[in-house]
Order: sequence, then C-alpha cells, then structure tokens
Amino acid sequence: MQKHILVLHGPNLNMLGKREPQIYGKLSLKDIDAALKERASSAGFLLSTFQSNHEGALVDCLQEAFGQVHGILINPAAFTHTSVAIRDALLLHDTPLIEVHISNIHKREAFRSHSYFSDIATGQIVGLGARGYLLALDAMMAILTDKEDLM
Ligand code: DQA
Repeated sequence: MQKHILVLHGPNLNMLGKREPQIYGKLSLKDIDAALKERASSAGFLLSTFQSNHEGALVDCLQEAFGQVHGILINPAAFTHTSVAIRDALLLHDTPLIEVHISNIHKREAFRSHSYFSDIATGQIVGLGARGYLLALDAMMAILTDKEDLM
C-alpha cells in the first residue's frame, strides 16, 4: 500500500517568492509543492499539499485527513506562535509530524521562538530555506520505511 504524506502550509506562504524574499527566498509555493510531489512520487509515496490563510480551514483539513495519512509535514507560519486549535487537530493524528520553518525562528523577534508544535513534533527543521521542506520529506520517508541508514 502506498503511504500518504500530508503537507500543510499556513498563512502568507501562498506569497512565497514575493513575500520578504530576503528572509523567505525566491521560490514560490508552487515550486516547492511540485518539488515535494516529484520527490515523493519517485520514492513511491503519495503526497498531498494544502495551504490556507485561515486557521479553521487548516483544522478542517486535518480532521478530514484523520485516519487517511501516514505522516504530516507542517509549516504553520504565523499560527506556529498562536494556534492551540491546530495543535489539537494535529494531536488527533497518531503519525510522525515534522515542523518546518524556512527562516530560523530562534534568530528573529522573541515572539517567534515559541512554537505550539515543537513539543508534539517528531522533529523540526528551521532556518535552511525552502530546502528544509525537502529535507523534512526525506526524513519523513525514512521514518515511514524504518530506514536508519545515513544515506
Ligand atoms: C515561518 C516563520 C513564522 O514566524 C512566520 O510567521 C512565517 C513563516 C517560516 O517558515 O520561517 O510566516 O513559519
């Protein structure tokens, strides 16, 4: 059976490429999603992506995915620092969870260093730019196939 990975993107990430490129880089969300889908499918995984600027829509998506996905990657964006609702919806899932941030949230304003997700995530990738998503995907696929090797 093909394993299914869900990738969730929070608010303003639809503006990647245009939004503060000195912090978030020049790639668009479309570029990132396409790279993730290609990488996942060539490794035999199914990958779905969803972006919303609305907290409730992200919660709805997580509820709809209940029992349907094997792993979740999330960049909750600004909701990282505010959302108990998304945290609770993630806790519905008994799957590995990787939190991704394009920028290093610990190197910026103090309010960004607290995440409502870091203590429930399997792991976190921060500050490595858009490539953090691909690194997170590789890690997730390794976790889902029980691979412990370093290559
Ligand atoms: C972000 C960091 C958040 O603090 C910010 O609100 C974002 C993006 C990142 O990917 O670096 O929108 O999650």
